[in-house]
Amino acid sequence: MFRTKTCGELRLSDAGAEVTLAGWVQRVRKMGGMTFLDLRDRYGITQVVFDQETNPALHEEANHLGREFVVQVTGKVAERSSKNANLPTGDIEIIATGLKVLNRSDVPPFTIENDTDGGDDLRMRYRYLDLRRECVRRNLELRHKMAFEIRRYLDDKGFIEVETPVLIKSTPEGARDFVVPSRMNPGQFYALPQSPQTFKQLLMVSGFDRYFQIVKCFRDEDLRADRQPEFTQIDCEMSFVEQEDVLNMFEGLIKHIFKYTKGIEFTEPFPRMTWADAMRLYGSDKPDTRFGMQFVELKDLTEGRGFAVMDDAEYVGAIVAPGCADYTRKQLDKLTDFVKRPQIGAKGMMWVKVEADGTIKSSVSKFYSEEDLAKWVERCGAKPGDLILILAGPTMKTRKQLCELRLEMGNQLGLRNPDEFSCLWVIDFPLFEWDDETQRFYAMHHPFTSPNPDDFHLLDTDPGAVRATAYDMVVNGNELGGGSIRIHDSELQDKMFRLLGLSEEEARYKFGFLMDAFKFGAPPHGGLAFGFDRMVSILAGLDSIRDVIAFPKNNSGRDMMIDAPSAIDDSQLEELQIAVVANPDKE
Ligand code: AMO
Repeated sequence: MFRTKTCGELRLSDAGAEVTLAGWVQRVRKMGGMTFLDLRDRYGITQVVFDQETNPALHEEANHLGREFVVQVTGKVAERSSKNANLPTGDIEIIATGLKVLNRSDVPPFTIENDTDGGDDLRMRYRYLDLRRECVRRNLELRHKMAFEIRRYLDDKGFIEVETPVLIKSTPEGARDFVVPSRMNPGQFYALPQSPQTFKQLLMVSGFDRYFQIVKCFRDEDLRADRQPEFTQIDCEMSFVEQEDVLNMFEGLIKHIFKYTKGIEFTEPFPRMTWADAMRLYGSDKPDTRFGMQFVELKDLTEGRGFAVMDDAEYVGAIVAPGCADYTRKQLDKLTDFVKRPQIGAKGMMWVKVEADGTIKSSVSKFYSEEDLAKWVERCGAKPGDLILILAGPTMKTRKQLCELRLEMGNQLGLRNPDEFSCLWVIDFPLFEWDDETQRFYAMHHPFTSPNPDDFHLLDTDPGAVRATAYDMVVNGNELGGGSIRIHDSELQDKMFRLLGLSEEEARYKFGFLMDAFKFGAPPHGGLAFGFDRMVSILAGLDSIRDVIAFPKNNSGRDMMIDAPSAIDDSQLEELQIAVVANPDKE
């Protein structure tokens, strides 16, 4: 046996035991006639001592160990004279009697510690070393535990995990497809699934009733902290259900995951908010409900005083920053600069301070009387000591800007604690989204989403007003997942394609298989998919999903370690009958 114990399990009660450990050399410290070695494996770190006096040859050998050497150590467990309360094994050390170098190591490019000196690019290039760090490994352990609990919950509820193909035909989810050329069918391409959407619906037609899959999805879209080109979904679908059934089932899943992986029990039902309210109160379809600061509309109170910014604005919205009346000119200017940043795009910001003694000061007092301002304060419910921040402009745009300002104030006031979790269902999404550029409607969720039956009559007359039977799960301002009740009637599906501007031929070409299937007794069905990487990163309190993926890609979609994507051989291209116009590797 290579080892009798791991580097994380020995305690004071093991004192006197003879043990053999194996692992990596984290650190070697020489102190007088003693050499201390921190030995690391997946389970922890154990201190090993080499004493020059009792074993000079072994001590000499230990002095030649380098960082990340792989070694096997034999020795006796002893109580430590100076204990390390930060280590679970900190009460003991191993007095070494044997040492074997199993493998040597080059000097690693960065230190393998939680506070490493390696920058992002370097760590990604040597990701296998980065993964040796405890903080990174813990994220993957949480990921494993979560996947296990998800399977446990869904299995218990009768769900069956079914794998669906990866080489498919395009499934539109709003992003670009990654495509794969087919050698056997020259000039033709597979697409990698953006999600298994159509397949899970076909499984419902097949009678599978309750399906799930922890599955890789691929989307060629601009990357951000919460987006990777390949990511994992917990994809689910159920037959003979209504929205309420789906929400209850998967609210149960989220509660189960929190309980068994974080020890957090949610006893109350998750709140639900309509999309319209989310936009009105938070300017976002994924509001961070860890804190209040809801929007207050002031348009009617600001009109008719000759201040063009307010008079010309379609919308005037305010938030109250509690206890911020003492913000200095400099702090307010900084906030104004924040909302004027190009990515936010506000023209300016107005403010009203309610001083501790109740007097009101404002950046727009030139245009408004004290009574006017008092009315704003009253509507906002601001108290002495509070600061009101106001933005004005086109409704949707200004709401989005105010949303950013609210989140920034939440950050400044420490109201966005990553260890606190606020879950919310957003429901009643619009079915369609109008795009000014192309002058046509797009499906807000996807083309298989059922309209809300109460709005069927509006489909022909006012499609923009039709609500979908669609829902999103939002946690701490992140879209964790989303889904819908599907259309299961081929005629309605046909009509939906038409409303989305697809001709009969196009619809047939893209989705003929689904429309055909719907002619053979498709049950009413619905489901959702959660972003698994997002779920892990939120529960781990991390900002980026990269930290919970073993081998992630960078923001240019590049795997720095294996150096992909890369050019392929001319012979491969020939076989595929593909000519490459731009070949950066050859230039
Ligand atoms: P949707 O497109 O909303 O729905 O995706 C579901 C969830 O997947 C996660 N997600 C991502 N995570 C990381 N990187 C990405 N690029 C990325 N894109 C999406 C999000 C999102 O909420 N087929 C439907 C689901 C359904 O209707 O059942 C779908 O894919 O957390």
